[in-house]
Amino acid sequence: MQTKIEKIDASSALAIKNIEPQNDEALKFLSFRERLSLANISHPKKKQEWATARMAVYDALNELQVPYPGFFKDKHGKSQSMNGQGNISLTHTMGYAAAIYHRDLPVGIDMDLVREKILKIGTRFLDSSELDFLAKDPLHYTLAWSAKESIFKCQGKRGVSFRDNILLEPFDQNATLIKAKIRGTDYADHHYFVKARIFENVVLTYTIW
Ligand SMILES: CC(C)(COP(=O)(O)OP(=O)(O)OC[C@H]1O[C@@H](n2cnc3c(N)ncnc32)[C@H](O)[C@@H]1OP(=O)(O)O)[C@@H](O)C(=O)NCCC(=O)NCCS
Repeated sequence: MQTKIEKIDASSALAIKNIEPQNDEALKFLSFRERLSLANISHPKKKQEWATARMAVYDALNELQVPYPGFFKDKHGKSQSMNGQGNISLTHTMGYAAAIYHRDLPVGIDMDLVREKILKIGTRFLDSSELDFLAKDPLHYTLAWSAKESIFKCQGKRGVSFRDNILLEPFDQNATLIKAKIRGTDYADHHYFVKARIFENVVLTYTIW
């Protein structure tokens, strides 16, 4: 797949890229702090994931003609803009990295490879009402998992339980929109609308607050 850059609306964009080695020239937009973070990653595969995800952020910003401000990780691990403007979220899986940017609102994005083994951990991340409507099918479970990851990243706070704090409304395997709400924690009753798509056995979801 070629790099895919999408303008979602006037305030937001996303980019999906193949993970590949990035040369110094292609990464010269990174801040000094980000270069240090990259230099501290020793595993070559992790280095490529990290760098490609930042290239995806750069592409998404570029689509909206927003200059790259540099990002740092807060105490929860969520990336925050160095100039306090805009919100991003990142994901990487099995050869792909993706990022979403919004000028004003928190965002969350996630990609996951569809694998059989997710069926074994259903009770760890799904509420009984979700187990009732989901087919025992790896794609359906992965959509549910990924939607919860996107919501988790949009919230950005450690300590949010997938099973107890994020509740999905029933959806089917062809759904492109998954509705959900938070319960029993900060922002309880906030409703999320998660966009979903599938390509090459990978589920991609994202949500904008
Ligand atoms: C941290 C976590 C969100 C990463 O997700 P993942 O699917 O393993 O990996 P992804 O590639 O999709 O996402 C990684 C990115 O998430 C981002 N991230 C990490 N912590 C984050 C947080 N608290 N909020 C938002 N984004 C976060 C980082 O940018 C990271 O990319 P980077 O390392 O290149 O900077 C995830 O592992 C996690 O902790 N999930 C919630 C915990 C949980 O309850 N899990 C199991 C329930 S049974």
